[in-house]
Amino acid sequence: MPRRAWGSFAPRGAVHRRRRPLGGRIQYGPCRARVARRAGAAAPAGHRSVRQRARAPARRAGHARELNERWLHVTGCRFEDALDDGWLSYVHSDDREETVKTIRWAAEGHAPFTLEYRLRRADGEHRWVIDHGVPRRSTDGTLAGYIGSGVDVTELRTVQKALLESNALRSAIFGSVYGHVAAIGRAGAIIAVNDGWRRLAEANGVNPDSVSVGANYFDICQRVTGMTDGDARRALAVVTGVVAGDRERAQLEYSTRTSDGVRWFDLSVEALRRAEGGAVISHVEITRRRYAEDEARRQRDALAHALRVTTLGELAASLAHEINQPLSAIVMNAKATARLLDAGATVTDDIRGALRDIAADGTRASEIIRRLRVLLSKEHLPGRTVDVKELVAETTSLVEYDLRRRGIDIRSVHAAELPAVSVDRVQLQQVVLNLLVNAIEAIAAAGEGPCTITVTTAARGADRVEIAVADTGVGATSTDLERMFEPFATTKTNGLGMGLSISRSILRAHRGTIWATVNADRGLTLHVELPIEGDSGA
Ligand SMILES: Nc1ncnc2c1ncn2[C@@H]1O[C@H](COP(=O)(O)OP(=O)(O)OP(=O)(O)O)[C@@H](O)[C@H]1O
Ligand SMILES: [Mg+2]
Repeated sequence: MPRRAWGSFAPRGAVHRRRRPLGGRIQYGPCRARVARRAGAAAPAGHRSVRQRARAPARRAGHARELNERWLHVTGCRFEDALDDGWLSYVHSDDREETVKTIRWAAEGHAPFTLEYRLRRADGEHRWVIDHGVPRRSTDGTLAGYIGSGVDVTELRTVQKALLESNALRSAIFGSVYGHVAAIGRAGAIIAVNDGWRRLAEANGVNPDSVSVGANYFDICQRVTGMTDGDARRALAVVTGVVAGDRERAQLEYSTRTSDGVRWFDLSVEALRRAEGGAVISHVEITRRRYAEDEARRQRDALAHALRVTTLGELAASLAHEINQPLSAIVMNAKATARLLDAGATVTDDIRGALRDIAADGTRASEIIRRLRVLLSKEHLPGRTVDVKELVAETTSLVEYDLRRRGIDIRSVHAAELPAVSVDRVQLQQVVLNLLVNAIEAIAAAGEGPCTITVTTAARGADRVEIAVADTGVGATSTDLERMFEPFATTKTNGLGMGLSISRSILRAHRGTIWATVNADRGLTLHVELPIEGDSGA
């Protein structure tokens, strides 16, 4: 194998200009004077600016023999300095060995080569260059050298690197997302799944590959659920709605019957923002959360019921009086009627009036008992439409005797237009009753001064309603305003400290709020705010 010397860059023409090339064409070749001269004489159009040595000593592979103006300009190197292996000092030291090795290796087999290395620019910055070397042969078939063309690919590499990183990041995020996640195309073909998705398949004794990339999501749904129950159909409708472009995203909690019993899932679907459409579907199992929520609701209802019973027990005297009043009136009217009839009176207007009063008082007494029965029952009636003014009036009637007995004046200030709210009637009544009892007790504790309770109802914005109970009682310090909602926080000898705490949990279940404020003159105001569509069923 003859010893060879190697030449260097020449301009690359249009392609380079378009890409704002760093280098140009490089010519490598046996560096005997004969070859150098011939290369110079035969320089094609693109090589016009090549400067070459008339005579060059024999060199080893990788030695430059010709360099174009562009290469010299970009590197800021003098022609003389770049010749031989001078140009290599512009190649990054980490890439130098590999560069020379590749050129030598290619030369052994007279093969073309493609190299990537960093080349130092005149301003000192290293730029990534793809250098493609094409062998040139002498007329006798021996290797005359190479012509290499360099293209600056720094930006391309930066973009490629960012793309790779972003892809790696995306697939890492996708793979590790909580729940069972699949990305599907417009027709339902699965294009990606996460680890959770495969694990779910394994747990169900299904080969994960049969429900992964390439399978059809809708076919799997059909196979797994049989689409027999309403929840499965609703879930499918949510997915198809998003895939069809009806909406950007959707969410649904659904249950499905399995061999282990009923399992709950939180389904969320997000449209894929790409021309081909599709969606990312995630199923997160929430069975345990649902059971915990159900249990919490049962406990809250039981506690609320116990408190209602306790409160009504405390109001027993008041309620007995409320029932006793119409009963006494009935007795009196009945006796009077009997006397009139005994005296031989025919049916007069007096008798008719007395009988009507008897009927009205009987209705009043049975109405009080009906309300009591409702409050004492464990009935849970979520989502009924409730007229707030009526509910306030009904609840106030339960404490009327106490109010009168203590000389407390009660006022109701109702908004003219108040939308009905969708709540559990008994529970909202319990909240208002708690507030009224607290207000009465606060006024009683104050012992002197004005004795007034003002119940205000008002619409708050377009979709909320507020009930406020203001009293002229003992009031509270600003630090106590929050503490009073904690369980067992009480300042009363006979208090349990659960009234406000249970009221807050009832309101939270209805997506409502309750808070207290100090009145400007005296006492507190307890505010209850509820969305019109407040019932969560929870
Ligand atoms: N209108 C009010 N004015 C002043 N303090 C109040 C008022 N309402 C509640 N509080 C304070 O908040 C505490 C907690 O009230 P909460 O209704 O939760 O429990 P309670 O009334 O003490 O007992 P119960 O469980 O029987 O209702 C009360 O003990 C009282 O100190
Ligand atoms: Mg209370």
